[in-house]
Amino acid sequence: MATAPREHFTSRTGFVLAAIGSAVGLGNMWRLSYLTAEKGGAAFALLYLVFTAAVGVPVMLAELTVGRGAQRSPIAALAHFGSAAWKPLGALFVLAGFVILAYYGVIAGWTLRYAGAAVAGGLPEDAGAYFGEVSEGWDAFAFHVVFMAATIFVVSGGVRRGIERAAEVMMPTLFVIVIGIAVYASTLDGASAGYRYYLNVDFANVLDWDVIVAAAGQAFFSLSLGMGAILTFASYLGRDHDLPNEALLIAGADFGVAFLAGFMVFPLIFALGLQGAVIGQDTGTVGALFIALPSAFAEMGTAGRFVGTAFFVALIVGALTSAISLLEVVVAAAMDGLGWERPRAAVVLGGLITALGGLAAWRVDVLDAMDTLANNVFLIGGGLGLAVFCGWVMRDASGEAHAGSGAVR
Ligand code: TRP
Repeated sequence: MATAPREHFTSRTGFVLAAIGSAVGLGNMWRLSYLTAEKGGAAFALLYLVFTAAVGVPVMLAELTVGRGAQRSPIAALAHFGSAAWKPLGALFVLAGFVILAYYGVIAGWTLRYAGAAVAGGLPEDAGAYFGEVSEGWDAFAFHVVFMAATIFVVSGGVRRGIERAAEVMMPTLFVIVIGIAVYASTLDGASAGYRYYLNVDFANVLDWDVIVAAAGQAFFSLSLGMGAILTFASYLGRDHDLPNEALLIAGADFGVAFLAGFMVFPLIFALGLQGAVIGQDTGTVGALFIALPSAFAEMGTAGRFVGTAFFVALIVGALTSAISLLEVVVAAAMDGLGWERPRAAVVLGGLITALGGLAAWRVDVLDAMDTLANNVFLIGGGLGLAVFCGWVMRDASGEAHAGSGAVR
């Protein structure tokens, strides 16, 4: 099997951008804003920050350590440092990749659709009705297929020519757009009401069990933890980096973009008086982003056309770099475990995941159920499993984490 030498990232920057690309995605811009809206403002964001720092960073370091140390994809890496008894945990990672990417691709497909509408100047004022039309059925499936094709294409290109190169172009683009829109939004009348809503800390909510679980699940999801995505990327790293700084850098960038996203979303919504579409409405998972914001863009006329296009392009870019990492987990497992060639693994397994996404494209309820299952069960379970593995099973995990020049021992 592993005859050819393992492909490695060309540079530290390339790796960090790819890992940030994995972390920053729909989770930052879509999930966090709706959860924040739903769970009562920045108290939720604060709780999420606590989970990011206290649980996210250590689990991220665990993934980096196991992946780089083993130079193998998750199932093989766990067997390498532990024993065959740990393989089911790796299999759970691959399963999580299947489920998450299947519905993630559908949401990304909606984003593609909205971007197209924004370019054409046709974002509807009645975004609720529009969302109803495009979110389920064959249309939703078709856009999902297009998005998945792009993901499969990049992953087929390999670590350097596919994943690394895509991240190097796309991540700076995303940063520029997000900062640009946040600055623009701050100039709108009424923006301050948005900030007040976003940053209003309601501690009563923070003690709620549901809210705590949602914040923990969100931290794992947003950081791409709990299913071996960061582990797989780290398996393409040489031992010339020390890892703790990388973990901080990736988590910091992820939190930064998520926090900044609130500074584009809420001022826009409040400036146009559309908070009713977000607060206290049963628009479930999607209210903040796919209904309120498009209505805001539609009402803004020409400016909305530009800002709306930029916004959805940023979402697509974020989604694509994340989807790449999800598919890479599955593809790397097939390459290491079954000896498949990369392009074959990408096309066959990416195709299966695309088909599974048909379920999520069929009904938003199913998509929601897949999201809940993946986050509250797979990711939290997978992340804790890996923490136990690093703490009790793997020998000298700390030595491995600190190996490399610039070590901060
Ligand atoms: N972190 C990404 C986001 O915020 C989604 C994602 C990519 C992911 N890879 C992952 C989530 C692995 C969990 C596990 O959109």
